[in-house]
Amino acid sequence: MKVPRFPDGFVWGVSTSAFQIEGATSADGRGPSIWDVFSADRAEACDHYHRRSEDVRLMRELGMAAYRFSVSWPRVFPDGSGKPNPAGLDFYERLVDELLAAGIAPYATLYHWDLPQALEERGGWPSRDTARRFADYAAAVHDRLGERVGTWFTINEPWVAAFLGYGSGVHAPGRKSAAEAFRSAHHMLLAHGLATQALRAAGAAKVGAVLNLSPVMTPAQVGDFGRELSQEDAEAVGRIDALANRQFLEPMLRGAYPAELLPVIERHGGLGHVRDGDLDTIAQPLDLLGVNYYTPLVVQAQPSEAADPAFPGSDGVLFCTIPTAVTAMGWPIVPGGLTLVLRRLSEEYPDLDLMVTENGADFVDVVTGDGIHDVERISFIEDHLRALLSAVREGARVRGYLVWTLLDNLEWSDGYQRKFGLVHVDFATQRRRPKDSALWYRDVIRRNGLTETPPRRPTLETVAARAGVSRATVSRVVNGEASVSADVRTSVLRAVKELGYVPNAAARSLVTRRTDTIALVLSVPRQGDALTAAVVQYVTSMLEGAGKQITLMLADTAESHRRIVQHAEARLADGVVLLPPDRADTLAERLSRTGVPLVLLGKPAVASMVPYVDVDNAGGAAAATEHLLARGRRRIGMICGPMDLVAVQDRLAGHRAALHRAGLRPLLALADVTRASGAAAARQLLADDPSLDAVFAAGDQLAIGALHALHEAGRRVPEDVAVAGFDDIDAASATTPGLTTVRVPVADQALALARLLLSRLEGRHTTSVVLPTRLVVRDSTSASRP
Ligand code: FCB
Repeated sequence: MKVPRFPDGFVWGVSTSAFQIEGATSADGRGPSIWDVFSADRAEACDHYHRRSEDVRLMRELGMAAYRFSVSWPRVFPDGSGKPNPAGLDFYERLVDELLAAGIAPYATLYHWDLPQALEERGGWPSRDTARRFADYAAAVHDRLGERVGTWFTINEPWVAAFLGYGSGVHAPGRKSAAEAFRSAHHMLLAHGLATQALRAAGAAKVGAVLNLSPVMTPAQVGDFGRELSQEDAEAVGRIDALANRQFLEPMLRGAYPAELLPVIERHGGLGHVRDGDLDTIAQPLDLLGVNYYTPLVVQAQPSEAADPAFPGSDGVLFCTIPTAVTAMGWPIVPGGLTLVLRRLSEEYPDLDLMVTENGADFVDVVTGDGIHDVERISFIEDHLRALLSAVREGARVRGYLVWTLLDNLEWSDGYQRKFGLVHVDFATQRRRPKDSALWYRDVIRRNGLTETPPRRPTLETVAARAGVSRATVSRVVNGEASVSADVRTSVLRAVKELGYVPNAAARSLVTRRTDTIALVLSVPRQGDALTAAVVQYVTSMLEGAGKQITLMLADTAESHRRIVQHAEARLADGVVLLPPDRADTLAERLSRTGVPLVLLGKPAVASMVPYVDVDNAGGAAAATEHLLARGRRRIGMICGPMDLVAVQDRLAGHRAALHRAGLRPLLALADVTRASGAAAARQLLADDPSLDAVFAAGDQLAIGALHALHEAGRRVPEDVAVAGFDDIDAASATTPGLTTVRVPVADQALALARLLLSRLEGRHTTSVVLPTRLVVRDSTSASRP
């Protein structure tokens, strides 16, 4: 196998941004930015303003060839306009001089989200004047640094700045208006165009922009990029791609907005702000496109979904969580997504030079006496570099790669808790310490390549095998327990040393006494609950496949709850799967307090920190209801039960919401889970409203009962009354007529649950998972009403 090498001249480095590292927010005449006003966190950040030289030295020691930093607009124009503040420019001049002296090429970004507050007060980005001010600012900075800075980036991630800043309001300045978000986006594009003209006129060497680009895919495509899509999903994917990616790519590189986006913008405040000639200004020739890639956007069609405020116009699209490994931000780790982005750009814009200007990850770092062993960050970067290399081998013109980021810093609305740095910063002392990833990256740069095989990180198992002891013994030695004989301890420590084993956060947090047993707790066994039975079966076989033994426990009485909690407290199980926690009982909370890793099937009634796997019950119910409405049904009854199930409450909520949108009121009948109770509820609905024309049941058993009752009452299905269920149990396709229902991905749920627990056992960061449901249309709803 060949050692994976990068092209000659490939540029290696790191990226940062002014607000996130500089601090010194009022030094030397700097004015306030929108982030000073918006952010609750103190903004000393990394005090880079005063520690610039130390940081440059650090980069030189790590072998960086390039450094992408951003210039703080309010340092240069404290009031947004007028005369530039020379002291603000001095700082960047010194920085650039020191970089050049250290052999590091400066790449300057002019806008990384810190708009002068003075300009926000004069209208901010929704105002066209801000774009003109930006061009003046670009010229002023170039005037001072132009001879020394080779590459200029105008704007960083306009999508984030416009749609999180002015759409969802989670970023500064925190406005929440779809119309203002679209106007801001356009003015940022215009600002890019005007600044590019100004820079070129002043003789700038290279000019580019930086976009956050995410491939858009469905959950199924995450595992299989080539997977064919249904027409609805393809439309959903295309629409989100237009909003997130093409809204910026196409004006910049083709001089036009994507055609399907125009009506969306029109609907949200109109297109009056897009003036004649703007698109020509925006489409300046570019020398380089900066690509920031972190994670894909995973979506699917879901007719009932309301628009996400960060994506105005995304009605009918569900943003999905998927059961893959995630970073501590909760962002799915999909390195292949980077190949997709680079490949697509090379196909669509074959002459354009590309550079990955940001890529990196937030993980929970453990600081130990002997360093910060951030193996997860190393794997993340390494996997993405391999993905980049595949695109390069296919011909993509990728000129370099910059890690986000040099230092742990102030991560916008998330504050200081996020750790993206190659270098750890102790914010109490401002001490910098390179993490293992920094040293590893230095070696990658030196080799201009990776190693032949990804460095196999020795695990607890490898050490156990080498020392000829059990993993529990290794664990005991690593955690310094006294109960191990001196001989065994010596041989384990020798194996640890020889293999270079690093007990990471996971190993350190491992319970020392492993049982390799998982308790599967069934909280409410219900007659006829085929779903739970199937999940039990899948979870069991998956966990057994991972070498675990399963203890099945029933939680049906207070006494059994006590026994289960004791079982966990006595560490008789390594982890607990609880299904389903459908009552507002305290078992989940009590189990989580034992410290034994716990995962839940279904969203708990009481919000808690315990991760769960659920399906989109509300969305599924709304889809079924909207389907009935689309078939012309207006007198729709719902059979609800059992109401103590959170899933049923969510299904009712989705049903109500869909009716509400259509201006209709709900008609409800309560049931438990049996066919008999479904039949009784259907009879009640008929009695309450003899002109009933549709029934939506919260479960298929109930729906089957309703089919019988309707038949007995002489009503034809679907001609007189259409019937839809939920769950898609096997029997649903065998009824006459076949039952329209909402399919719940049983196997995926079980898989996600087992994965979630295994991740927790490894001490990895986990988040809850909500899987999409899908409407399956059969004959019970097929005829439209005349
Ligand atoms: C990007 C930003 C950067 C940082 C990373 C995590 O979107 O450009 O400032 O927040 O995400």
